Amino acid sequence: MAAKTIIAPSILAADFARLGEEARAVEAAGADWLHVDVMDGHFVPNITLGPDVVKALRPHVKIPFDVHLMIAPVDPFLEAFRAAGADIISVHPESGSHLNRTLKRIRELGAKAGVVFNPSTDPSVIQWMMDDVDLILGLSIKPAFGGKSFMTSQLKKIETLRAMIDATGRDIPLEVDGGVTPETAPRCIAAGATALVAGTAVFRGGPDKYAANIAALRG
Ligand code: DX5
Ligand code: ZN
Repeated sequence: MAAKTIIAPSILAADFARLGEEARAVEAAGADWLHVDVMDGHFVPNITLGPDVVKALRPHVKIPFDVHLMIAPVDPFLEAFRAAGADIISVHPESGSHLNRTLKRIRELGAKAGVVFNPSTDPSVIQWMMDDVDLILGLSIKPAFGGKSFMTSQLKKIETLRAMIDATGRDIPLEVDGGVTPETAPRCIAAGATALVAGTAVFRGGPDKYAANIAALRG
């Protein structure tokens, strides 16, 4: 039997006035990780939150913080996010000059190092550095906003990334982020995803619905 799919609710879709409560509610509802989208209004056209918010949230839940950095330059902020409690730190190759150096630094800080693929980013970016990667995230939307439609064009890329992971023999989580719903989740899993990020599909309907929403993504 295949391992249970990891569900990582994105707090981007939570009520920002009650973030601690929202984090506790999704953890109680069965979330495996908490996905935290960090945007700077420069690398992507939206601004969300910084390390102080991550730090304030950390005591509210025990589940790992899966921090998706959409900021450039990214290197100067790695340490602050790790100190704030990030367990996984994922970066876009386009957000710094030397991806290998950035990934190495994330590991030195004691976090897992993830690489994020924009819809246009080619899998070959990590072809020669698979040993340095602890998580791969395929975006199925343009980064910046939640609630966008899933880009089916990305499923082939997920399959390619799955094959690259399998060739390593390592158990590297393959995460899909953007437009993940009970309808698109099975397609992501069939393509080889082992972790799913979902904002809108988890937080819709309010806290009473979170458990059912998460269960629906697991299929
Ligand atoms: C967007 C973020 C996503 C976003 C997904 O740039 O990376 O994590 O929160 O939101 P939904 O699940 O609503 O598409
Ligand atoms: Zn994200």
